[in-house]
Amino acid sequence: MKITVVGAGAVGATCADNIARKELATELVLLDIKEGIAEGKAQDMMQTAALLGFDTKITGSTNDYSKTANSDVVVITSGLPRKPGMTREELIGVNAGIVKGVCENILAHSPNAIIVVISNPMDTMTYLALQSTGIPKNRIIGMGGALDSARFKYQISQTLGCSPSDLNATVIGGHGDTTMIPLIRFATWNSIPVSTLLSEDQQKQIVADTMVGGATLTKLIGTSAWYAPGAAGAAVVESIVRDEKKQITCCVALDGEYGQKDICLGVPVTIGRNGWEKIVDFKLNAEEQDLFNKSADAVRSMNDVLKTL
Ligand code: LAC
Repeated sequence: MKITVVGAGAVGATCADNIARKELATELVLLDIKEGIAEGKAQDMMQTAALLGFDTKITGSTNDYSKTANSDVVVITSGLPRKPGMTREELIGVNAGIVKGVCENILAHSPNAIIVVISNPMDTMTYLALQSTGIPKNRIIGMGGALDSARFKYQISQTLGCSPSDLNATVIGGHGDTTMIPLIRFATWNSIPVSTLLSEDQQKQIVADTMVGGATLTKLIGTSAWYAPGAAGAAVVESIVRDEKKQITCCVALDGEYGQKDICLGVPVTIGRNGWEKIVDFKLNAEEQDLFNKSADAVRSMNDVLKTL
């Protein structure tokens, strides 16, 4: 198994680090446009192999895509991160050009790769990857929902005082501060609906805090977060390479599912060796469907910006 992570910034490097520790690949390539960064971080990670006991060969490359040839899975983290006060959507102008170029270079050397998109604005970058490459839709997966659902579980665990791992909770819709939809009605703690354990106000607060989860961290750190985004990317990669068929919320192409088409948006999907395999229907109520439609409208107007670039 060969995996490439494009972009050796904080998110890309953390994702690669998780992939190495989990031994998801025999070969892992980290690529960046900045001279020496990918080589340096790859070497730094390789020097943890004897300490952590993993057996993955990690190499770095400055923009030489021939080194990524025949990758089975490619994670794209390239582009600018958010600065405090910035929305993910404001990054579209710069990041669209970068992501399009990366997709072309990747597929020139790995025509069968499954692509996992992390770059922001993630829903639009996933749509762009699909439109610009024309590869089968199941091979393009945006990881936003995996991250947002993990943040949702964190927020619930903080209020309930429970382990995040004992929670089942899903965020669908866009990966934006106003477009994501934490589905509190479906959230459970060891099969018990959390709505029976939390007050209305607590539930509202959890949903609100989840939606601005990324922005809160950007404000605290001064740039976009990386531990959870990197781990979320690696979790998606793990379900692919181990053919786990895990149900993870990811941004995928909709063709009528959840009442939407010609858009990539976060919905629960099963993920295995062929990419995303099945969209799981949560049977939204009218209020949730309305939020989903509004989220789709916002993401669609962002996708329309691509035509003007
Ligand atoms: C975040 C970025 C990675 O939500 O979108 O932290």
